[in-house]
Amino acid sequence: MNAQVIVCCGSGGVGKTTTSAALAVRWATEGDRVCVLTIDPAKRLADSLGLTHIGGRPTVIPMPNAPGQCDAVMLDVQETFEGLIRTFSASEASASRILENRYFQFASTRLGGVHEYMAAEKVRELATNGHYDTIIVDTPPTRNALDFLEAPERMAELMNGSVMRWLSSTSKTGGWKAFELGGEAITRVLQTLVGDNTIGDIAQFFDLFRELWDGFQSRSLEVQAMLRDETTRFLLVSSPSSAARTEALFFLDQLRDKAMPFGGFLVNRVEGPVPFEKSLLPTNGPGDWATVAAQIEQMHATQSDLVAIHERSIDSLASAGPPNTPIWRIPHQGTPVNSIASLTALAEFLPSRNEI
Ligand SMILES: Nc1ncnc2c1ncn2[C@@H]1O[C@H](COP(=O)(O)OP(=O)(O)O)[C@@H](O)[C@H]1O
Ligand SMILES: [Mg+2]
Repeated sequence: MNAQVIVCCGSGGVGKTTTSAALAVRWATEGDRVCVLTIDPAKRLADSLGLTHIGGRPTVIPMPNAPGQCDAVMLDVQETFEGLIRTFSASEASASRILENRYFQFASTRLGGVHEYMAAEKVRELATNGHYDTIIVDTPPTRNALDFLEAPERMAELMNGSVMRWLSSTSKTGGWKAFELGGEAITRVLQTLVGDNTIGDIAQFFDLFRELWDGFQSRSLEVQAMLRDETTRFLLVSSPSSAARTEALFFLDQLRDKAMPFGGFLVNRVEGPVPFEKSLLPTNGPGDWATVAAQIEQMHATQSDLVAIHERSIDSLASAGPPNTPIWRIPHQGTPVNSIASLTALAEFLPSRNEI
């Protein structure tokens, strides 16, 4: 059976990486075999787990008392792309030819959409390898995350597209046909982009790539289906700020449009009430005590106002979501969240395994 996929989305800095890691820690504590995958090129996941490095292969997060397991992976686009090419090539020899082609190096790092497509592919790989019950995906800021949702679809279109077929159509002169027919415009653009010497490599790359089409296309469809599967959940991470709320609602619209399953809001950095009893404040104290006491009272009033503003913001998020939208409030922590211990403290406010 495939692992359940949980995707954490939201705008930059809102706490996606932190909450993804905390959710992984919580569910491992509850007995799940969890893998948290970050597709954000910023290397924040390692920091939040208190590690110096996470790579394309699972790193085991030491949690000696957890009945489950928690692994972390950072997307390595090139490695994932290579894996796909080896899977779908007709032979080891043609896989090697593509991998050695200089344009492959270019395509795997700079071709638009490749990063997002490989992210979707990595989710699929981890969800189907039988090692995990849950894959938690930490995404880059919202609008890139949308690319991630669309990537398998776009890749399928590209694979099907006449441009791709035309570009790689063979002739007596091999893959050069595209450039003979393609007119000078394409050639000029490509020359500017990659330089004269690379064009032969590009033609060869497309030629070789042609044999991978069917595999890539069916894989794209599989990934699309997985992102819409009834067990998949998109969690929208937000904060009480109006900018983060607007982004979360924008993303909710996108999920609706794409029929992607929404699991609820995680509202991060929420201020909670601070207990304060004016009558318990001493009437006398050091220095200008009357001023100090007035300031303490004022601080409490300001905090109460902030709590009320946050509650109103959360209410408006709730009313904009579907009826009975689950909302989890995560308090603002006084200390940095960059260790298993601090993630465990935060995780208490996140959904447990059986709530999603
Ligand atoms: N509830 C919280 N309380 C205090 N600091 C937090 C909280 N959530 C996140 N942070 C801190 O905010 C910063 C940004 O969080 P991060 O998870 O990297 O955001 P994102 O992945 O959405 O860009 C990090 O330094 C993180 O430790
Ligand atoms: Mg992040």
